[in-house]
Amino acid sequence: MTKVLNHICTWCQRRALLLMFSFFLFSASFLASDACHPADKAALLDFKNKITSDPSKLLHTWTPTTDCCKSWQGIACDTSGRVVNVSRSGLTGDDFILDTSMSGTLSPLLANISYLQLLDLSNLKDLQGHIPPEFGKLSRLTLLFLDSNKITGSIPVALRYLYKLKKLYLSDNQLSGTVPSPIFESLTLLSELGLSGNRLSGPIPSSIGKLVSLTKLDIFQNSFSGSIPESLGNLKDLEYVDFSYNQLTGKIPESIGGLSNLVLLYANHNQLSGSIPPSISGLYSLQFCRLSDNTLTGSIPASIGNLRNIQRLIFENNRLTGKLPATIGHLAGLTDIFFSNNIFTGKIPSSFGNLRNLQTLDLSRNQLSGPIPPQVAQLQRLQSLDLSFNPLGLVSIPNWFQELKVFRLLLAKTGLQGQLPQWLASSSLSTLDLSDNALTGKLPNWIGNMTNLSYLNLSKNAFHSSIPEEFKNLSLLMDLDLHSNKFSGGLKTILSKHFQDPLGRYNSIDLSYNLFGGSMEEAIGGEPSLASLVILILSHNRLEGSIPKSLGKLSGLMTLLLSHNYLSGEIPEEVLNLKSLQDFDVAGNKLSGRIPAHNATIPKTAFLGNPGLCGAPLPPCKHS
Ligand SMILES: *[C@@H]1O[C@H](CO)[C@@H](O)[C@H](O)[C@H]1NC(C)=O
Ligand SMILES: *[C@@H]1O[C@H](CO)[C@@H](O)[C@H](O)[C@H]1NC(C)=O
Ligand SMILES: *[C@@H]1O[C@H](CO)[C@@H](O)[C@H](O)[C@H]1NC(C)=O
Ligand SMILES: *[C@@H]1O[C@H](CO)[C@@H](O)[C@H](O)[C@H]1NC(C)=O
Ligand SMILES: *[C@@H]1O[C@H](CO)[C@@H](O)[C@H](O)[C@H]1NC(C)=O
Ligand SMILES: *[C@@H]1O[C@H](CO)[C@@H](O)[C@H](O)[C@H]1NC(C)=O
Ligand SMILES: *[C@@H]1O[C@H](CO)[C@@H](O)[C@H](O)[C@H]1NC(C)=O
Repeated sequence: MTKVLNHICTWCQRRALLLMFSFFLFSASFLASDACHPADKAALLDFKNKITSDPSKLLHTWTPTTDCCKSWQGIACDTSGRVVNVSRSGLTGDDFILDTSMSGTLSPLLANISYLQLLDLSNLKDLQGHIPPEFGKLSRLTLLFLDSNKITGSIPVALRYLYKLKKLYLSDNQLSGTVPSPIFESLTLLSELGLSGNRLSGPIPSSIGKLVSLTKLDIFQNSFSGSIPESLGNLKDLEYVDFSYNQLTGKIPESIGGLSNLVLLYANHNQLSGSIPPSISGLYSLQFCRLSDNTLTGSIPASIGNLRNIQRLIFENNRLTGKLPATIGHLAGLTDIFFSNNIFTGKIPSSFGNLRNLQTLDLSRNQLSGPIPPQVAQLQRLQSLDLSFNPLGLVSIPNWFQELKVFRLLLAKTGLQGQLPQWLASSSLSTLDLSDNALTGKLPNWIGNMTNLSYLNLSKNAFHSSIPEEFKNLSLLMDLDLHSNKFSGGLKTILSKHFQDPLGRYNSIDLSYNLFGGSMEEAIGGEPSLASLVILILSHNRLEGSIPKSLGKLSGLMTLLLSHNYLSGEIPEEVLNLKSLQDFDVAGNKLSGRIPAHNATIPKTAFLGNPGLCGAPLPPCKHS
């Protein structure tokens, strides 16, 4: 009977409902007894006492006159009335409308709940103060969750006595200091350790190698320094390791290759150096590998071809050299390759054509040479291909590119010449970057057929034509960069293009360094396609007339650069006082009159070269 009663007393409502029948049968004795041990009750009431705010009423039921085992939410007792679980975690906004929180500090007296196995006070958002060292007395504790609060101070060394601990989550707090080495020496049952999102510093103690049961290790986003301990290789059960966003230095230890159960390895955004150890071939289970944003050198070991389960290889922003190993072509499960901004040389291996599941191939910003192997045309799942900024010497986009079904094609500075190939008209591209090449000729009428374009960058080429009327059909286009060409004619076609709500309104337009002429229409700022515009760059053209007042309607505009045109008249107050305006330049025009009073900090140089302009930050006007 006691067993039944104890079940009723748990906070778990489902179970309580199931046992409702028994509840009524035995309700007489239920009311009569107070199972809760007085020491446990006193400790819990002291905890409540140190909570300064409980807006979600999580501790509403915790009253001195009731039985903590029977009627307190979040408390579970064993058969002898000792509290074993304290679980008042905050709920998240995703599953529940109410986003719970609680303010206050952690009572050291919680350590008096000597039979405690589970302490879950996670995601209460506002628990403050230190982790009481007294918690080291909770020798039966198996689960300790204090993550997502505002707990400060360091991790008490006394936690080393929590010999039974299986999961420890202290992530997303404001913990600082070093991690005491003894903690790792004794917690041999620990399988999950979450310390991410704190301000922990100093080295990862090499005693981490003693945590032989560890499956998850997450120290993401702290200030850990020093190298990754060689002893990591002892942790044969590891499945998930996240070292990213720290200040780790030194080499990736050779021993890492022994982690045959490792599924995920993130060590990006550190200062790791040296080369990727050939031993990584031992990571048979690895699916996700992110080593980006370090200073890794040397070439990728050919043994990488043994990572049979790999899906994502993210090595960008390092100093990796040598040829891309052809063995990568064996990794049939690969979906994403991000190798941008390294120093890879040689050709793209033809074996890459075997990567039938590849969706992203980003080899941009390397030293790769051409030609591109036609086998790449076999990558029928490919969605994004970025080969920009490589000395590929392409001359023209190979014709077989039309067999690809990519949505993003980026070939900036790859040696392209001549005219745009007409097959682009029937592609489904949403991003096209052919900037920084030597493309010439007209912007063809069929550009208007590329109706899925949302980003078009043809800057730094030698196009010379006006913008065809069909351009208006690009009703999804949001970012347009045509700077540094010889485009001419008016701006009207560009600025008044069609759009498809809620998409297709411009975010940025850069038409600088061209031969655009004529004047901007007075009503231009009222164009619906410009309503969300953030960046407008028209400098170094041949624009005439005045700056339309209506540009003052573009409330999101942060950058407006109109320098080096033939603009005349006054600067409209409405424009200069745009709320978001940060970057403004009208130097080198024929503007006149007083510069309107404005709040944005705009340097003098932004107004220079307009003989008729006066007033701050230029010298004062004569007749004032
Ligand atoms: C908590 O435990 C300490 C000893 O560990 C004891 O002195 C104290 O009285 C206990 N407090 C309560 C409220 O039971
Ligand atoms: C205490 O919590 C653990 C972990 O959630 C659970 O397995 C156990 O059944 C709970 N104990 C009681 C008495 O509710
Ligand atoms: C635009 O994209 C959609 C969805 O990806 C596709 O169904 C459609 O055919 C594309 N249109 C053009 C003109 O490529
Ligand atoms: C277009 O390409 C140029 C040169 O590659 C680059 O500098 C510029 O940032 C790109 N424009 C946009 C809007 O991304
Ligand atoms: C562009 O689209 C029009 C209308 O659908 C079509 O007649 C024309 O052939 C297309 N142009 C190209 C180059 O595909
Ligand atoms: C593109 O625009 C032109 C004129 O602006 C129009 O006549 C034509 O029907 C449009 N083509 C498509 C495919 O929408
Ligand atoms: C400049 O800022 C002040 C204080 O925020 C405000 O009162 C004033 O109206 C602003 N001036 C202009 C011209 O926006």
